[in-house]
This record gives sequence, C-alpha cells and structure tokens, in this order.
Amino acid sequence: MKVTVVGAGAVGASCAEYIAMKDFAAEVVLVDIKEGFAEGKAMDLMQTASLNNFDTKITGTTGDYSKTAGSKVAVITSGIPRKPGMTREELIGINAGIVKDVTANLVKHSPDVIIIVVSNPMDTMAYLVHKTSGLPKNQIIGMGGALDSARFKYRLAEALECPISDVDGMVIAAHSDTGMLPLMSKATRNGVPVTEFLDEAKQDHVAEETKVGGATLTKLLGTSAWYAPGAAVSVMVQAILCDHKKMIPCSLMLDGEYGQSDICLGVPAIIGANGVEKIVEIKLTDAEKEKFATAAQAVREVNGDLKF
Ligand code: NAI
Repeated sequence: MKVTVVGAGAVGASCAEYIAMKDFAAEVVLVDIKEGFAEGKAMDLMQTASLNNFDTKITGTTGDYSKTAGSKVAVITSGIPRKPGMTREELIGINAGIVKDVTANLVKHSPDVIIIVVSNPMDTMAYLVHKTSGLPKNQIIGMGGALDSARFKYRLAEALECPISDVDGMVIAAHSDTGMLPLMSKATRNGVPVTEFLDEAKQDHVAEETKVGGATLTKLLGTSAWYAPGAAVSVMVQAILCDHKKMIPCSLMLDGEYGQSDICLGVPAIIGANGVEKIVEIKLTDAEKEKFATAAQAVREVNGDLKF
C-alpha cells in the first residue's frame, strides 16, 4: 500500500525512514514545496535500502500530487517547527494555510485517504482538517499522544531506574506544554501502579518533565525533535496498514466522549485498517477530569483563531 508524507523535513524524513525500515508499505511518496528537496531525500533514503534490507520504494516530488494518487494514508508534517522559547500555538498563522492547501491536494488525488496530522499546533490543525477535508471523522487522526506517551515512559523509567520496557503509561488531552495530561494514576511498572514506587514529588517531577518534553528538546537542538515524532507516526501508519487494532492515544474529533464535542483532543483509540476503529473511554479521577476540561478550553481558544 502507498503512504504519502507531506513535508520532507526533519519529521517527514524520519517518519519515511522508519516506515521503510519496518518494510510494511509498498511505497512512500515524499512531497515538499522546496524544489528538489523531497526527490533528494527520497534518493538518499533509497540508497540505504540495500544496507538496511528493505524493499519499500521511496519516491519524492516537488508538489506534484498526482504522484500521491491512491494513498491509503497521508501524513501531514509540512509547515514550520518552533524555535526555542516559542509555543506550538504561535505557529498557527503560517501552518493553518499550509495544512488547508495540502489537505485539499491530498483528498483530490486520494478521496479515501486516512490523514495523520502532525503539523503544530496539532490539535487545532487536526480540527482544521476535519472542517475542510470532507472526510469521515474516523479518517482524520492527530499525532501527539503517541509521542507524549513515549516521552512519559522515558521519564517514568528514569525515575524508577528500570528498563523502559517495564513501564506503561499514557498521555491524553492537548498536545501543548500546559494541556498535556500524563495519566499517573494509570501508569504501571510490570502491572504494578507506579504510585507504589514514586512519592508525590517524584510523580510531579515526571509529569512536569513529560509536559515540557518537546520544549526541552527544542532548547537543546535549536529546533523541534524528529526521531521520536517520526517513530510515533510510523507506529500509527503501521497500525493502519497492518490492521493492528492497536490502542494509541490520538487527537480525535469528539462527539460527547470525555464530556467534549466539536473539538480534537488526545484520547485513547483503537487504530486499524479503518483509521479510528473506536474511541476508548477510560474512567478518569475528578482531578484528571478537571485538567481535561481546562485543556479543552485552551484548545477551543486557539481553534477560535482559525479562518476557514
Ligand atoms: P521542517 O522545517 O524540518 O520540515 C517542514 C517541511 O515542510 C520543510 O521541508 C518545508 O519545505 C515543507 N513545507 C512547507 N510548506 C509546504 C507546503 N505547502 N507543501 C509541502 N511542503 C511544505 O520541520 P519539522 O521539524 O519536520 O516539523 C514539521 C511540523 O511538525 C512542525 O509544524 C512541527 O511543529 C510539527 N511537529 C509536531 C509534532 C507532534 O507531536 N505533533 C512533533 C514534532 C514536530
């Protein structure tokens, strides 16, 4: 099956690389607006095929969407990333225009496509795709929770001084420094609640480090991260192409779930061949419900800046 990745920059190229390395897609088409850039990235990646033992074909195009026709999944990473000190919300002006145009081009050539939205501010960009694409809501998925949960597990393992494979945890709500909700009450180490091992100060530290995970990397790198974002997207694409029916927290259009409607927010969902197969409603504590509602309010305010 064919996968399109729009934006051959840091996240787009990393995502294409992980998809190819796992060898589950027939073809990855990279699209960029910068002349020759996607073609160059595709050629460079293809020259790793014999070294890394994959058969996925990677091609690139400067804006010729006819090459993306018949894509099962399209990933939108086009736009500008944040610089140190910036919030994701500050990117809305430029990225909204780009995401809207890219979506129209994708749907024109692949009317049944499942779109994974990565560009920031991601919850708002996913909302924009819902409002402008005409696609059914199970075919539009925002990527945030998969990455933020991976960062949560990294911080949990660090605090517990244990292997990352021993921990499990999930981040829901908004993909923003203030709106992320790491579900400490449900995080486990080999099935045992982490609250058995970590006192409140340590729990708060883990939650805080998770929430500013992206900002910490942006400060270190001078731009936002790409390895973990690319890997997170590749897991979502694989869940769709291989019909894994894997539970992944994603930013989805809510219709009453978690007490919210007409908004995209991070919630756990089963991801398979149809995109979103089911939104999973888990029981939140009262404090978690309150944080979820506060995050929703902040995302609504950012959504208010959109012009359709
Ligand atoms: P980047 O600057 O390395 O790559 C973006 C690419 O998009 C550039 O190559 C640019 O030429 C291209 N582009 C711009 N306008 C385009 C258009 N109209 N059509 C096609 N291509 C176009 O940026 P990076 O680091 O890859 O980040 C991409 C986006 O992903 C940013 O908005 C960033 O904030 C977001 N991001 C989201 C994450 C998430 O968890 N949702 C995680 C990391 C980044």
